Amino acid sequence: MTSYLFDDLKPSDEPIVRDWLQRYLHEHLQWWSEALGTPWSSEQIKQHIATHDLEERDWNELFLARQNKNTLVAVARNNDDLCGIVLAELGRDRYMKVPTGSIGWIYIDEKHRGQKLGQRLLRIAHDWMHDKGVIMREVHVTAANPSAVGLYKASGYKVIDHRMLG
Ligand SMILES: CC(C)(COP(=O)(O)OP(=O)(O)OC[C@H]1O[C@@H](n2cnc3c(N)ncnc32)[C@H](O)[C@@H]1OP(=O)(O)O)[C@@H](O)C(=O)NCCC(=O)NCCS
Repeated sequence: MTSYLFDDLKPSDEPIVRDWLQRYLHEHLQWWSEALGTPWSSEQIKQHIATHDLEERDWNELFLARQNKNTLVAVARNNDDLCGIVLAELGRDRYMKVPTGSIGWIYIDEKHRGQKLGQRLLRIAHDWMHDKGVIMREVHVTAANPSAVGLYKASGYKVIDHRMLG
């Protein structure tokens, strides 16, 4: 079994995390464009990401989140290899008016999937939320993403709202 060390995000992690962001954005833009009935080609997706600086924006947000006491960015390493990342944020529910914790992003390197690393990173995020007084956790997940839906269900989340595109 692979052993993992849990750590903070470092400037030297940038190339790998940017590669993960590219892959993640690509996959999600494919699903969303399909849902709208206008599936984009790989080339169109790349162009869209570049035109709107999506990778740059998401990387900058992650990097800044490290210094914000209301956010957590945790990574998993195996020796010097970066294996996964989770971003969690604190908030307050608009209607229930209780402290909330949301999972902003989770990504496990393909080579390390299926080894419960996603579940371990989620647990780190949940422990942090618990320490911060969170009583309600939430996450937005695309229905076309069975691994993420499976991970959240296995970690105690259940579907409350549906985002519907038309
Ligand atoms: C979703 C993701 C983080 C899961 O990470 P992982 O480390 O492979 O997941 P784990 O090994 O911790 O899996 C824990 C549980 O989640 C569920 N799960 C994980 N992968 C699954 C899959 N492909 N299909 C169905 N359920 C799955 C299972 O219940 C699993 O428990 P089991 O192994 O006993 O069956 C990973 O696939 C990933 O990085 N995907 C791309 C990024 C992404 O889509 N992130 C979600 C954004 S909202």
